[in-house]
Amino acid sequence: MQIPEETINEIRERADIVEVVSQFVELRRSGSNFKGLCPFHEEKTPSFNVNPDRQIFHCFGCGRGGNVYTFLMEIEGISFPEAVRALGRQYGVEVVTREVPEEVRSRNEALYRANEFACQLYQRNLVDKRKGERARQYLLSRGIPKEAWTGFRIGYASDTWDQLVAAARKKKYSIDVLRTLKLVVSSDNSVGYYDYFRNRLMFPILSLSRRVVAFGARTLETDAEPKYLNSAESPIYAKRKTLFGLDRARDSIRERRSVIMVEGYTDCIAMHVKGFGNTVASCGTAITPDHAALLRRVSQRVVLIPDADPAGFDSALSSGAVFLAAGLDVQVVRLETGTDPDTAVNALGAEKFGKILGGALDYLQFLDYIMKDRPMSPREKESVIHRVTAGLADFGDRLRYEVVVQDIAGILGVDPETLRERRKPRATRDTTSDGLETRPSRDAARRVDLEKTLLRLLLEDTPEAVEAREKLDSDDFSHDRSREFYKLLDSTWGNHIDIESHAFHKRAEGAGLEGFAAEVALIPIPPGNLGRLLNDTLRRVKELRIRDELDVLREKLQELPEDSDEAVALAGHYARLKRALSEL
Ligand code: GTP
Ligand code: MN
Repeated sequence: MQIPEETINEIRERADIVEVVSQFVELRRSGSNFKGLCPFHEEKTPSFNVNPDRQIFHCFGCGRGGNVYTFLMEIEGISFPEAVRALGRQYGVEVVTREVPEEVRSRNEALYRANEFACQLYQRNLVDKRKGERARQYLLSRGIPKEAWTGFRIGYASDTWDQLVAAARKKKYSIDVLRTLKLVVSSDNSVGYYDYFRNRLMFPILSLSRRVVAFGARTLETDAEPKYLNSAESPIYAKRKTLFGLDRARDSIRERRSVIMVEGYTDCIAMHVKGFGNTVASCGTAITPDHAALLRRVSQRVVLIPDADPAGFDSALSSGAVFLAAGLDVQVVRLETGTDPDTAVNALGAEKFGKILGGALDYLQFLDYIMKDRPMSPREKESVIHRVTAGLADFGDRLRYEVVVQDIAGILGVDPETLRERRKPRATRDTTSDGLETRPSRDAARRVDLEKTLLRLLLEDTPEAVEAREKLDSDDFSHDRSREFYKLLDSTWGNHIDIESHAFHKRAEGAGLEGFAAEVALIPIPPGNLGRLLNDTLRRVKELRIRDELDVLREKLQELPEDSDEAVALAGHYARLKRALSEL
């Protein structure tokens, strides 16, 4: 079901963000904004701003921001359509849903139905007296009781080549659909198809609305490779946006105000069995900002319980950084060396395990532990730095990033500047037209501020803004977020989409830029002539870009023999840039 764009816009226009936020936060007027204590993080002095003119909010403390819908979604932990309906009710706009385009709807429907069919077949196998015997023994030997089989809809794919294919044919399921889901594969040497999952325990992966989107399939053999087979990605399954167990864990996460994150399906199930119902697992993939956004809707705190081995610690360093960058509070639990959450919770029992949970380290403490635990070779250290900075790359809030980066640099024993430079993997990899690497500059912070101001001014629909857009390109922006935001604006202008519209907000959100968009929109415009201000800012941004490029060129030139072809070419480029600078 899809809510028509017009309805979404109408409700947003009728709703008053100040009124809506006031239901949760005590707001006071402060200039043209309202201020209050941020409901999304702990604070003593108000950094949570609501702007009635633009109908947006932004917290300078935790970086959250967005429009009235974003606010409701985050504070109530509800989905977008739920937020639209709730506001529709409050402001007296009827929400009539429109169908998703018919082809898409029916294609997805067929995929869901086929997965459901397979899931039920696997579930029946598991409880079948004969077929499921070994799988049941296995589950029980691992301490997974019957209630969990039904709760998690665990099943068993029988040890034959065509049980599913045959059953599906009989029920007239399309083979194409089964192939898209990788439930069946075609054999090389004949025209036939056979079941992809055989003699495996089947853990279905459910969407938040509890539909089967994929399977994780574990072998019953001790040393069989691969241990897990997973469903292919499909129109109904993107693993970078999916968390195993979230459908069951959601309520408990809200109640306990924290989510526990483990690596394995069986770890997750074991945790639920022992009473830690707020546990989820990634589906055999690295944690992405999409995962973080998903969790941020339901909780402010993530507790990671990695397997207590080097690989587990590595992944906790990476995923912890991603969560941190998304504005979540991150803790890490250290289990006894060599154990994982499944063995630990089963060996210790709920009570003792709960105590260990209580002793979780903050992410920074965990990082400190990793660095000090044993002597590290420069290579190992490099790899830790890489993991941490790669995760932090998407940090939404610059102020908070600065605080975190200082701490992290201290722990890693490196200059914060080193981390800031690494934070811009794209900028360092980006090359100019002459194949030169650009490099973050001394004036990086000033440049970023100017870029934000420029973006703010571009949001005003003045003739100067239109003119300025023509003179800019995305490479004028040094900061990843500014650049991405500019690209978004640029594509939006091309399509004549209103930046105030819901469609724009959705695209900003899709690009992970909703916080940044709100931050920019809230930058106050100084009094005075808007056109002049815009032109000055544009010139400054261009100037700093050229100066940075000149710095890089100068350094390169010093390293080259003066009469080399490359040096001559670079010198030409240098002269052109100097001229461009004087002509600004
Ligand atoms: P158990 O051995 O049954 O305890 O499995 P586990 O769920 O604890 O898995 P483990 O800690 O070994 O691995 C963590 C997660 O990585 C699994 O749940 C899978 O999602 C994924 N994974 C593990 N092994 C494989 C594999 O061989 N192939 C693929 N594609 N994914 C795997
Ligand atoms: Mn395990």
